[in-house]
Amino acid sequence: MNPPSQDISLRTSQFRLVKFFAYTSFVILILFSFPFSVIIAQKAKNILMKSYENYALLLGENLNHQVFQNFVLPVSRRYGKIRLRDQDQYAIMDRIVKNTIHSFKIDLVNIYDIEKGVIAYSTDPKLVGKKGEKTAGYFSAVRGDHSSGLLSMGKDLWGLGLEIGGQKKLRTYIPFRGEVFYSDKPAFILGVFELIQDLTEEYGSITRFQYTIFALSAGIMALIFIALLLIVHKAEKIIDERAREQRELEEQLNQAERLAALGQMVAGVSHEIRNPLGIIQSTAELLGQMPNADESQKKLSTVITDESRRLNSIVTEFLDFARPQEPALRDCLLEEVVKRNISFLQPELKKRHITVSHNIRGRSFKIKADPEMLYRAFLNIFVNAIQSMNSGGLLRVKIGEEKAHFIVEIEDSGCGIPQEHLKTIFNPFFTTKDKGSGLGLSIVKKIVEGHGGDITVKSREGSGTTIMIKLPRAS
Ligand SMILES: Nc1ncnc2c1ncn2[C@@H]1O[C@H](COP(=O)(O)OP(=O)(O)OP(=O)(O)O)[C@@H](O)[C@H]1O
Ligand SMILES: [Mg+2]
Repeated sequence: MNPPSQDISLRTSQFRLVKFFAYTSFVILILFSFPFSVIIAQKAKNILMKSYENYALLLGENLNHQVFQNFVLPVSRRYGKIRLRDQDQYAIMDRIVKNTIHSFKIDLVNIYDIEKGVIAYSTDPKLVGKKGEKTAGYFSAVRGDHSSGLLSMGKDLWGLGLEIGGQKKLRTYIPFRGEVFYSDKPAFILGVFELIQDLTEEYGSITRFQYTIFALSAGIMALIFIALLLIVHKAEKIIDERAREQRELEEQLNQAERLAALGQMVAGVSHEIRNPLGIIQSTAELLGQMPNADESQKKLSTVITDESRRLNSIVTEFLDFARPQEPALRDCLLEEVVKRNISFLQPELKKRHITVSHNIRGRSFKIKADPEMLYRAFLNIFVNAIQSMNSGGLLRVKIGEEKAHFIVEIEDSGCGIPQEHLKTIFNPFFTTKDKGSGLGLSIVKKIVEGHGGDITVKSREGSGTTIMIKLPRAS
């Protein structure tokens, strides 16, 4: 199995890969969506042109038949020769052409005289007699083949079909053939029809459609991209959080190992100190009680006894920390423990002008605990609270009930704990006091946790501290 820190770095690099993938796929998709929309639009334009060309051919065939049957044959029979400059003949032709194209969507019809190479008839009278624009399509129609081509009056951006504005017209040249019945020979060509259809509107809607496709695909890509980025961002945050937790856990483990070693040493040293300390204390007491001891000798012996007693209590605290006892659980009453603490501290509270208030009068809180250990834990908390109030104050004790727990809140109106210390006050040897060992709260924490409870702190510098202890109720 990989060590946790390696796992984290592996996951981090995987996510960097996902991020890179998100960026590149976005760029690639944007680059591809444009040509994709151009291809689709081009296909649509080709289909449009093909269908209009078929439409023109159908009309051409009809025109061919109508003009040949109703103009060429009767006019040559009646006038001997076809001369469109003759007004009567022109009027007949005009009527036939207009009747034929009447219900078709067509812009202009020209009929070329291929011998003279001029426009012999046009739906636009201004063009009659003009040479017209003769493209390759015209000459292939003269040879008998029809053809179509797009007339574009707008500007095409980079040849991508992204034309904005400008007219679009489809020009179709169709040979005008004489109709020969009962013969296999190809019909002779009399002239050329030039049909012009306006496709501007249809082309415009295809171009708009092309822009819509592009905008839509770019929009979808952007949405996917944003979603992907959000996921990556969230994942990165989770990974960072995990990495932080992992580091903290590793730190805690290291600290626990260090503390275990330290604890063993402290326990050994404390134990060794305790015996000679006991002898020093009892010897000093004996010296002070000797009948020939004068006043100053008695005073000195009291100093030695007091200091060795203080030293003994520090050593006991060290031993408590280093060799925590297992709580001997039995049914007991939480309010008894708290009351015993308060009455023990009464002289000190009085001396410092501290008022005590509590909400335990007449109530009972049954717990399963080691009352001696709990007493020591609460004593540490009360002593801290008292020490935080220099010139009088208020000490409030509140016991609350939850379904499975009691919550004891010990609130003081003392100096409070600076924000930056809140995380470290439970660490062994953390102290801000000249004569403190810094073990008090770490012992309290051990005792409370040993009882299946937990301890939290709420404090604001300058306005006091509340310590909350949660203990399971006796079932
Ligand atoms: N009620 C409180 N008000 C203000 N500061 C507090 C309070 N309780 C704890 N502290 C802060 O937390 C630190 C650690 O407390 P802890 O009881 O573990 O050690 P100590 O009181 O310094 O020494 P010891 O209890 O071993 O004599 C204290 O030095 C003090 O700065
Ligand atoms: Mg303390």
